[in-house]
Amino acid sequence: MATHPLFSSKPDAGLPVGQIVLGDCIESMRALPAGSIDLIFADPPYNLQLRGSLFRPDNSEVDGVDEDWDKFADLALYDGFTRAWMAEARRLLKDDGALWVIGSYHNVFRMGAALQDLDFWLLNDVVWLKTNPMPNFRGRRFTNAHETLIWAAKSANSRYTFNYHAMKGLNEDIQMRSDWMIPLCTGGERLRGDDGAKSHPTQKPEALLHRVMLATTNPGDIVLDPFFGTGTTGAVAKRLGRRWIGLERDEAYAKVAAARIRAVEPLGRDALAATPSKRNEPRVPFGWVVERGLLSPGTRIFDSGRRYNAEIYADGTIESRTLLGACRGSIHKVGAAVQDAPACNGWLFWHFEAEGRATPIDILRQQIRAEMA
Ligand SMILES: C[S@@+](CC[C@H](N)C(=O)[O-])C[C@H]1O[C@@H](n2cnc3c(N)ncnc32)[C@H](O)[C@@H]1O
Repeated sequence: MATHPLFSSKPDAGLPVGQIVLGDCIESMRALPAGSIDLIFADPPYNLQLRGSLFRPDNSEVDGVDEDWDKFADLALYDGFTRAWMAEARRLLKDDGALWVIGSYHNVFRMGAALQDLDFWLLNDVVWLKTNPMPNFRGRRFTNAHETLIWAAKSANSRYTFNYHAMKGLNEDIQMRSDWMIPLCTGGERLRGDDGAKSHPTQKPEALLHRVMLATTNPGDIVLDPFFGTGTTGAVAKRLGRRWIGLERDEAYAKVAAARIRAVEPLGRDALAATPSKRNEPRVPFGWVVERGLLSPGTRIFDSGRRYNAEIYADGTIESRTLLGACRGSIHKVGAAVQDAPACNGWLFWHFEAEGRATPIDILRQQIRAEMA
């Protein structure tokens, strides 16, 4: 595996972390150890199959993608290439790892089928809605204003990373949806040579990678990009405190990427701390509340509307008596039963009397968690 000396930094557990490996990505991936990567972000050739040049109404030529790296003689060759790099990518992923691929209508359906055939487990497809798309100059089709990303876990059993609360935070406390409105990479972010020409025809916006990485990795994770181009993945990874590996076969792109990443300042630890996920908080059984004497056996708890009530037992179970009979069990089971609901979060449903006010029992769970911290 040839690593350009320009891009070398300290190796990490035998992996070329913080390096751009020059060469064909399938060959480069074959040289890496299985089960070593947390996340793969892949922006492969689109196989646009452009036929001739495209001109604007003022006869200026459209700066499209007609590079050799995007050309495949036919779809069978493209499919073979796709399946080969995806198989290697899957081998490299840790069992709980995941992969993102981005593509357009030219290639994304073929990639989706390949992922399923290779036993990846599809988690979402995300539509990147371009707020400033290129118009359709010939007026014979809709303006193509989006690209699709597929997010897939290594397998159906993978306990993949999803920072749900960080995504909700990014979206002002509303669940993040699968349609992302992000502009194309323009202005100061667009890398250009001395002649003013774009350094790469398909440089992705950093905002897109920011969201992908914040959502599906943690600081310190290793992110590999087999089609590194100008290194958008590496730049965002470095800023967000993730470790990165870039694979790229074009030395000119790799040089641009290396210079770009060198100039990135990593964010400080505090800025990186993700919104804590409630799922990661230590589990507190209701019995601990009783054991600690925060609520005594025999105390009655009730819902916020005081429609239902239940009595606490010494073993941490509660019992509610309704016209239909008595129901005894956990705070969750009894909460669900009295409402005839499939499930209930008993911590939020049940209340106790504190200083004349109905207070959720969750306060007591938080008190115990604070003692444990
Ligand atoms: C769509 S571009 C990626 C652009 C990148 N995401 C960015 O923001 O700059 C695909 C890149 O993959 C590279 N490439 C294509 N085939 C490759 C292969 N077999 N091995 C390694 N790199 C390859 C191309 O040179 C090109 O830079």
